[in-house]
Amino acid sequence: MCGIIGYLGGEEACPILIEGLKRLEYRGYDSAGIATVVPGAIAIRKRPGKIAALEALLREQPIHGTTGIAHTRWATHGPANEVNAHPHTGMTGRIAIVHNGIIENYATLRTHLEREGHVFHTETDSEVIAHLIERHLYGPAGAAAPPCTLAQLEAAVSQTAKMLEGTFGIAVVCADVPDALIGARKGSPLVLGVGNNEMFLASDVNAFVLYTRQVIYLDDNEMVTLRRDGYQTSTFERRPVTKDIQQISWDADEIGRGGYPHFMLKEICEQPETIRNAFRGRLLPDHATAKLGGLHLSNRDILLIDRIVIVACGTALHAGMVGKYVIEELARIPVEVDYASEFRYRNPIIRPNTLVLAISQSGETADTLAAVREARQKGATVMGICNVVGSTIARECEGGVYVHAGPEIGVASTKAFTSQLTVMVLLALYFGRVRDLSRATALDVINALQGLPEVIKEFLAQRETVRQIAERYVHTQHAFFIGRTELYPVALEGALKLKEISYIDANGYPAAEMKHGPIALVDEQHLTVALVPEGELIEKMLSNVQEIRARHGRIVAVTDSDHPKLPQLCDDIIRVPRVHPIVRPILMVVPLQLFAYYIAVARGCDVDQPRNLAKSVTVE
Ligand code: AGP
Repeated sequence: MCGIIGYLGGEEACPILIEGLKRLEYRGYDSAGIATVVPGAIAIRKRPGKIAALEALLREQPIHGTTGIAHTRWATHGPANEVNAHPHTGMTGRIAIVHNGIIENYATLRTHLEREGHVFHTETDSEVIAHLIERHLYGPAGAAAPPCTLAQLEAAVSQTAKMLEGTFGIAVVCADVPDALIGARKGSPLVLGVGNNEMFLASDVNAFVLYTRQVIYLDDNEMVTLRRDGYQTSTFERRPVTKDIQQISWDADEIGRGGYPHFMLKEICEQPETIRNAFRGRLLPDHATAKLGGLHLSNRDILLIDRIVIVACGTALHAGMVGKYVIEELARIPVEVDYASEFRYRNPIIRPNTLVLAISQSGETADTLAAVREARQKGATVMGICNVVGSTIARECEGGVYVHAGPEIGVASTKAFTSQLTVMVLLALYFGRVRDLSRATALDVINALQGLPEVIKEFLAQRETVRQIAERYVHTQHAFFIGRTELYPVALEGALKLKEISYIDANGYPAAEMKHGPIALVDEQHLTVALVPEGELIEKMLSNVQEIRARHGRIVAVTDSDHPKLPQLCDDIIRVPRVHPIVRPILMVVPLQLFAYYIAVARGCDVDQPRNLAKSVTVE
């Protein structure tokens, strides 16, 4: 959940590293620091708070050099302060490291090093890495040590990496070897950028995509030495590894806000295009089915699947919950959905024909990655539904489907969610047509998907209506979101959106659950957002709304119905167009995203970087 970047080239490193940190800030932003290598020494600047604070310090106390590393932190061990900010050094000041991940055996290593005379200055787990590299490089603390060679530095990093337990993506610089930078990864992402006589190393490509789109993704237990004239990738055992250079298809301006006040609003408004991208080239109307070649499953394999288990966290879990409804509806395969953090520890039951689907926007979520590994360990067929190409989860699954939502910068996931839902429908369609789904029903689904982007685009054009309604509830402290069947997970998602960016206590429930306890909380200050679609359950939903009304709760309905009771029961109504039920969850979440966004903005919250959160949760 931290962002790291390294640079080695012909330019001053500092401006490039700071620009890179700004593009990583959504990964974690409670402190930041930078180190550059100058002849025979390392210069370091660190600051708590956002990157702007570090920039201000550098204006007063600049540092120079064309080799450097930098870090933006999401605290896991030790509070967010200057001391605990990365980069970290050891005893000699000749080594500096930045780290993303958690070193699980840091306390044991630290105790051992302290017994040898190492003095630690921080409360972090990461500092032990710098001391350990020094120990391997220069011997016991205090020993006189001549400058090391690059080969000795590589060996020291390799030995250190093999001793570390837990997860790490690290970048290392050394004052004795100013023309080199070393990276190593295990469990946390690390990607190499191959420029023109300059090299980059970062947690993700956003950090350097301005400068190069030629990238190499490191795998676990791999390290890389960057030199001015090239690089060498190897295993921790120092065996050379050949890695393919990949070309990043999107460019830097996609990372920018594109004229919107926040990334989140930009990404909400991108959804007509990103949903289209999710099904682009994957619908086969002539065969009334979908094509998902990345699964590498034959029709025979699909016919034999007798159970699907979906593992994910947060918003991705909600996508999986909608997936349950659409896959069971169209493909008639039993689907279970489980929190990845629960699945990994409950000794899950896997059988030969169990298919496990891991849904993850970042493809780096630690709990979901662990669930993938547990499922593979038990022999399951595991597929990844990811957004970030080349992410760890994507690469550790046997195959999968990229959702093609493009880089999602806002911490609150929006476009990735609707793209995940789109892929759920594609899967349901594909699997269904191998089994019992009729051609006619399949064509209805295909037409519904193909028409959806335009429907959402038209709704988004009216988003001012949602803003006006949302701002009436800016002072709400407690809220319910309620829905039934495939809209129940959408209610959960709407609650999560409001909770995570406005800090309002919002919770989602199956609508019928109100009377089993939650309705005790309803009073005239309480808000309920009710998803009320036209259809066989509308009278049930209206009864639930009535129960809340009778207790003076405030009610906003999101509906595609003209039922006469709605204006009588609700304080406000957000109307959406009527679409095929199988794609209705994708449409219905958009007003909820906007509702949360406008309330958070009206409350003056930091919409793109909400407190306490990070974009990619790469720790347990
Ligand atoms: C979504 O708005 C949240 N930021 C969070 O719940 C997120 O969905 C969750 O951490 C899973 O992330 P992933 O999709 O990258 O695995």
